[in-house]
Amino acid sequence: MPLETYLAKHRQRHLDELLDFIRIPSVSADPDRSVDVRRAAEFLRERFLAQEFDCDIHETPGHPVVLAERRVSETAPTVLVYGHYDVQPPDPLELWYSPPFEPAVVDGKIVARGASDDKGQIYAHVKAAESLLAEHADAAVNLVFLVEGEEEVSSTNLAPFIEANKERLKSDVVLISDGAMLGPDKPSLNYGLRGISYVEVRVRAANRDLHSGAYGGAVPNVIDVLARMIAALHDEQGKVTVPGFYDRVREIDESERRALADLPFDADDFLGNVGVKASPGEAGYSVIERIWTRPTLDVNGIGGGFQGEGSKTVIACEAMAKISCRLVPDQDPTEITDLLTKHLEGLAPAGVDVEVIDLHGGWPAVVPLDSPALVTAGDAVEAVWGKRPVFVRTGGSIPIVSTFQQMLGADVVMLDMGLETDRVHAPNEQFRLENYYRGIHTSAEFLLRLARD
Ligand code: BES
Ligand code: MN
Ligand code: MN
Repeated sequence: MPLETYLAKHRQRHLDELLDFIRIPSVSADPDRSVDVRRAAEFLRERFLAQEFDCDIHETPGHPVVLAERRVSETAPTVLVYGHYDVQPPDPLELWYSPPFEPAVVDGKIVARGASDDKGQIYAHVKAAESLLAEHADAAVNLVFLVEGEEEVSSTNLAPFIEANKERLKSDVVLISDGAMLGPDKPSLNYGLRGISYVEVRVRAANRDLHSGAYGGAVPNVIDVLARMIAALHDEQGKVTVPGFYDRVREIDESERRALADLPFDADDFLGNVGVKASPGEAGYSVIERIWTRPTLDVNGIGGGFQGEGSKTVIACEAMAKISCRLVPDQDPTEITDLLTKHLEGLAPAGVDVEVIDLHGGWPAVVPLDSPALVTAGDAVEAVWGKRPVFVRTGGSIPIVSTFQQMLGADVVMLDMGLETDRVHAPNEQFRLENYYRGIHTSAEFLLRLARD
């Protein structure tokens, strides 16, 4: 029967299976959830075995990697599908309309942690493989799934795993769905991710908290010091002031600039959707250029001193901030972390100690728009959606993508299935059913076309 008929017939089961997957609270950052993280890996393994894949769970120093393979021939193209089965913590819990790990289907959307990032998207490929093999068992394509459990905590153990299994993982195409389309009716192929450098900075002066009346005015106030240091990280033009920060930044060319300006993207809607009325940022760049093509620096959190109810008169002995930089080609995360560290140390006034802790880093990545695999993906999108995809980038990071390019030399295809409005990492994360079903169909169509080419 045609793929469409198979997909229609198995729609409800495909949804039910995804909901079961989502019910497993695989929060990689939470040590108390490590058993659940493993359960999510085991859930996938069982599904793969049922679909006649070979599948193993590989231990790492952190959470395990699921590797599933169904190889048909040495001469057929090999597609490696990458995704992650771990999810972000669900906090703050009180802002959810329904419990984060009890998926609710409301208004055509699945509401739950991990629904869009990335369980719904990776599982769409699992069901695409099922459908393809059910209807085209002889399709000449080798399928490999690599699903990790540490993406949300920066994929520390994945690159060594890939390095150790380089030969086995050699593939022609790497297929990834872990991002957002430009809009509900705007199927998208993604050709760029930003990298990241993430540090924690701690500022200390006195050897204990002090009475603010007895010592105020006579000793450094580390919260004030930290606030000034942070304020000094941008200039009036919205540029990051860290010396050398922009040295390796590749400017986009005129044709890309025009293509971005021509995208059906409305900056006012984009900002209005999240209740924002103005866009500060780097002068000379549009909103879309700022998030997709320019490096940025953001304070993600700040702490120190008295945070309780009411007042307390105290001068804290320590203040801290979490700072991340999003990077673009050809910035090097190690180098940027070094530059930022030196700069922060230099900003500290006399008598104040600054410690900068490197939390994690990841490389940016761009993929060529004319790779044969991307062209085939565009055709698959058109076959399912009835329109050509738009080409987008994202401001987010998937650190392992540059590793795939460097170590495996594969063409990377990023077929985003989520929406910008999916509330990923936030309360009430959601994934549109339509995107799930079309995602399954598009993936199956893509694999079928690769098999035929
Ligand atoms: N799926 C996201 C990446 C993403 C975010 C793509 C937004 C498209 C739009 C991924 O799971 C993620 O959250 N990545 C982290 C990486 C970090 C922990 C190293 C990110 O971007 O913050
Ligand atoms: Mn993700
Ligand atoms: Mn994420």
